[in-house]
Amino acid sequence: MKSLTLTRPDDFHLHLRDQPFLEVTVPPTAKHFARALVMPNLQPPITTLEKLGYYKKRILAAAEGYDFTPLMTLYLTEQSDPMEIKRGFAEGLVTAVKIYPQGATTHSEAGVRDLKKTDAVFQVMEQIGMPLSIHGEVVDPAIDIFDREKVFLERVLAPLRADFPALKIILEHITTKEAVDFVTEAQGPIAASITAHHLHLDRNDLLAGGIRPHFYCLPIVKRAEHKEALIEAATSGNPKFFLGTDSAPHAQAAKETACGCAGVYSAPVALGAYLEVFEQRGALDRFEAFASFYGADFYGLPRNPGKITMVKEDLEVPEFFVYGCEVVMPFRSEAKVAWKPKGDQLFKEEDWEEE
Ligand code: DOR
Ligand code: ZN
Repeated sequence: MKSLTLTRPDDFHLHLRDQPFLEVTVPPTAKHFARALVMPNLQPPITTLEKLGYYKKRILAAAEGYDFTPLMTLYLTEQSDPMEIKRGFAEGLVTAVKIYPQGATTHSEAGVRDLKKTDAVFQVMEQIGMPLSIHGEVVDPAIDIFDREKVFLERVLAPLRADFPALKIILEHITTKEAVDFVTEAQGPIAASITAHHLHLDRNDLLAGGIRPHFYCLPIVKRAEHKEALIEAATSGNPKFFLGTDSAPHAQAAKETACGCAGVYSAPVALGAYLEVFEQRGALDRFEAFASFYGADFYGLPRNPGKITMVKEDLEVPEFFVYGCEVVMPFRSEAKVAWKPKGDQLFKEEDWEEE
């Protein structure tokens, strides 16, 4: 049987939500990933070190029995205090600051409307080498939803890069050829995370032959040519592109409704889903660097010491998982994923091998 042993990977973009859901959301990630960058868009959002510290404790409690480290992010607002951010970074409590343009996505109401108001934060972050994680879409209602990432590059990201040339920037969950080109060509420290679902889906999957709300996420999936550009970037061996699942659970009822929430719950299957794409492209030899090296290197973190073995064996994905009083439908619900962790019993014992 074919198998692949790699350094335990990191998920550099993850939504775990909060209690009572952490017992559901933490284990699938902790089983596959040594660390995950946890997004702060709770309601209310994680805007202070105090809230962040308690949130981290709740996550760690749900991760008991797993060798898993949550890397925490602070939600940037126009009132954020640069000195608090600096202190959180110096103490090792905060790994990155996240920008949500106000109104861009789930729980972004408290996000930033006018980037000029957060210049003082960026100045400090640039000085101390702290990473800025960006949801890269404009919120201008006049801009077509399929163009919001592309326009963000021109209107927001290019000027930000010019104003803060040494700021460490991560453009999250990129979805367009334009974003791939921007990140490839831009000067200074800049990288991008790529999700498994954006490597698998284009807008026909979302909209042709019936609307599939479980494929609705933000940034929205684009034309096939953009998916192709993402696959090329992910499998290219360019260290500017690395793994970030953006696994974002919403209860089934909140997805299958007249105005459904954005988010794909991919955590239970993401690693295998990425591997499928790398295998199809004959790039399995580049997977470890994409999943386990480039992100850690960009964030200035040590690479993980342990290993995980993935085997080429069908993973039968359940239709749904219990999610509080409701259920959540995973990516590839009721289908098969071609790779799974060795000895897999999803959500049970840890099964990676320490070196
Ligand atoms: O699809 C998404 N879901 N995109 C985001 O930016 C946020 C996320 C969520 O939190 O549900
Ligand atoms: Zn996200």
